Amino acid sequence: MTDKLRVAVLFGGRSGEHEVSLQSSAAVLANLDCRAYEVMAIGIAKDGQWWLCPPEGGPREGRWWEGARRVALLPIPAEGRLYFLDEGKWGPKVDVFMPILHGPMGEDGTVQGLLELAGVSYVGAGVTGSAVGMDKDIMKKVFQAAGLPTPKHMTMRRKEWEQDPEGSAAKIMAAIGFPCFVKPVALGSSVGISMAKDKGELIKAMELAAKYHHRILIEVSAAPCQEVECAVLGNESPKASILGEIVPGGHFYDYRAKYIDDNSQLIIPARLAPATAAKVRELAVRVFQAVDCMGMARVDFFVRPDGSVLVNEINTIPGFTRISMYPKLWEATGLGFSGLLDRLIELALEHHREKGRSALFYEDET
Ligand SMILES: Nc1ncnc2c1ncn2[C@@H]1O[C@H](COP(=O)(O)OP(=O)(O)O)[C@@H](O)[C@H]1O
Ligand SMILES: [Mg+2]
Repeated sequence: MTDKLRVAVLFGGRSGEHEVSLQSSAAVLANLDCRAYEVMAIGIAKDGQWWLCPPEGGPREGRWWEGARRVALLPIPAEGRLYFLDEGKWGPKVDVFMPILHGPMGEDGTVQGLLELAGVSYVGAGVTGSAVGMDKDIMKKVFQAAGLPTPKHMTMRRKEWEQDPEGSAAKIMAAIGFPCFVKPVALGSSVGISMAKDKGELIKAMELAAKYHHRILIEVSAAPCQEVECAVLGNESPKASILGEIVPGGHFYDYRAKYIDDNSQLIIPARLAPATAAKVRELAVRVFQAVDCMGMARVDFFVRPDGSVLVNEINTIPGFTRISMYPKLWEATGLGFSGLLDRLIELALEHHREKGRSALFYEDET
């Protein structure tokens, strides 16, 4: 037996970003300190099954599920114990879960909801922060309520668009104009996002976005602008990292530029005047707190040539590959990859204790 903390990395997931998660979690597994933790890798297949990988397996292997055992985490407080479905027996207890899942069904509060019901500690935002961070429409409403600057936008339901594309296009052109960005409300990695410069492109962009979600966000383009990212770490007193800048290889930072063409540049630190950088870092912490984020998040901005700053979005489970911005920004700020993971685990345990202080049931104070 061991008295090491058992940490289970959840990878894969039922989203279009399954493959991105394999890369992120492989880097996380390679950097978790084996002297401090007993590390487990649990893969979520595209059909939703959970598989506990053998010690030598994990997301690095092409067919990672081979030799793995089917497990479940049941939505009952069971001290974090996994349940072996093949044998119908309780398995090992996990102290901290680390969901390294991107996109819907992983980063959006669904897996976090299961972890809450199971009563276990886990890294990152809870149900609310995750759900708000994944929904670009609600996220922007929260930003506006908190007085955080964001590009002018509107949301249209897919049904409305389908019933009257002509009238809907006219409405969008009057409210937003060109160039604009059209996005499915909840996805990631730029999937389903396009820029439109005229009515023909708008119609194509709306049709594409409508394939992915029943609500569509249309927003004014912030261009010309720099894309600046800030890593945030903490619970009650989150800290902002040094800033990074993305120079997309294509017209904008689309799926190809992110994962296929490999011609985008990451510049650390971002090329900003000190006062602008200070403003971005302060806004990053305010964004983190506005959505009730925990542990970690990457907050992305557009900085205009006049120094004005617009918040684009918050990512509650940012990319974690060796070349991803989140670990790189902490490295540049003085916290290496392994140290960052140690801190995230500490923060998960700390927040779990904090939640434990709240009464679950009515307590009569009279
Ligand atoms: N309003 C905008 N102005 C300028 N560029 C934008 C705007 N919205 C999105 N983009 C471009 O599209 C990319 C993806 O959009 P984003 O909203 O960040 O989606 P995702 O959640 O998929 O990353 C951004 O990184 C940026 O390059
Ligand atoms: Mg983005």
